[in-house]
Amino acid sequence: MLPQETVRRKRSGETLTSDEIARFIAGVTDGGVSEGQVAAFAMAIWFNGMARDETVALTLAMRDSGDVLAWSDIDRPIADKHSTGGVGDNVSLMLAPVAAACGLAVPMISGRGLGHTGGTLDKLEAIPGYTIMPSADLFRRTVKDVGCAIIGQTADLAPADKRIYAIRDVTATVDSVPLITASILSKKLAAGLQSLVLDVKVGNGAFMTDAAEAETLARSLVEVANGAGVKTSALITDMNQPLADAAGNAVEIANCIAFLKGEKAGTRLERLVLAFAAEMLVLSGAETDRVRADAKAAKALASGAAADVFARMVHALGGPSDIIENADAYLPSAPVIRQVIAAQSGYLSVCDTRGVGLAVIELGGGRSRPDDTIDHRVGFDRLLPLGTRVEKGDEIGRVHAANTEDAGRAAQRLAAFYPIAPEAPALPPDILTRISA
Ligand code: URA
Repeated sequence: MLPQETVRRKRSGETLTSDEIARFIAGVTDGGVSEGQVAAFAMAIWFNGMARDETVALTLAMRDSGDVLAWSDIDRPIADKHSTGGVGDNVSLMLAPVAAACGLAVPMISGRGLGHTGGTLDKLEAIPGYTIMPSADLFRRTVKDVGCAIIGQTADLAPADKRIYAIRDVTATVDSVPLITASILSKKLAAGLQSLVLDVKVGNGAFMTDAAEAETLARSLVEVANGAGVKTSALITDMNQPLADAAGNAVEIANCIAFLKGEKAGTRLERLVLAFAAEMLVLSGAETDRVRADAKAAKALASGAAADVFARMVHALGGPSDIIENADAYLPSAPVIRQVIAAQSGYLSVCDTRGVGLAVIELGGGRSRPDDTIDHRVGFDRLLPLGTRVEKGDEIGRVHAANTEDAGRAAQRLAAFYPIAPEAPALPPDILTRISA
């Protein structure tokens, strides 16, 4: 069928067959389908949506547009997690090592910052020597020998998604549940996973600010991934404040290393990392009992096994061998570090989380254009969690900036992002809902 016929049928609200979706996506990959046709196809889907079977067919066609990895030489369960993105969301950096230390193999394909949210790859590039684009052989060896490797999407992995995503980005068609579902899952399925846990974020620092929308996306992702043969569940988690006590690149790696050394015990971040690790263990079949899975994940962290896996992954992918012991010697530091002080006594009541993410970009820690270079040194750290009681003059966080002007501006903005109220706020739970097949 001609591509314009497929576009016409979708535009008219008809249901596409798996075959015609596969043919259209083959044309996207080999260039037979023009940019205008891709844009029209995406817009037709944006307006008319897709039935579940169509979304499954689109996901599989996009997965099959490039290499699909197989891990037959690894006898551990092949598992992964994906987050829809947030601020101070560095969970992947610690979760992959915790899961690997518990016996899973985690070939994690991660992305760069998108909009106001940070990207795992940008954070990892703060580590000198770490290669986010290793050869296929090094990627495989690292997953096999260490248990996890966090890398970027290579040109051979779901290339149809790369082309469609770039066109969606400039045609106002990013925010479509079937398109987001196929885009995220095509890359994850191409990594050859057996199970996948999704972190669907909701709140003022997430792409989905509304709980009902987050649930619709989570259900779509879970149903389509399971329909495509990968055991998948989703946790909908709160993103109404930065998750780590840091937001930026080097500062989030420093936070990750402190976490792996046991210095972030009792935080929301720790609760979420361990909850995701236990979910991965149960979903993958590595553990049948949730209580045992919780204990296993906690032990992997407390024993230092996860820190050891992280160190070995960093070294295998080109970074230093002693990043855990000597992080300060390797991570780039900003020339100006400024405290942000509470202007009055009371409770940190709410946070403009999206504002924090945008402020990181304005400091130079993110991009306003795709080809911008990032200043890995800048961002915020020592951020206090919401609900903290502060006295006038207490530190509520710190700014890391390239110069004093940027530091002053960011400090003022950070103080405004955290209004202080006389009453302690009512806070949502860390995990709002679990969605399974
Ligand atoms: N992340 C992706 O990879 N794709 C989307 O469409 C949205 C977020």
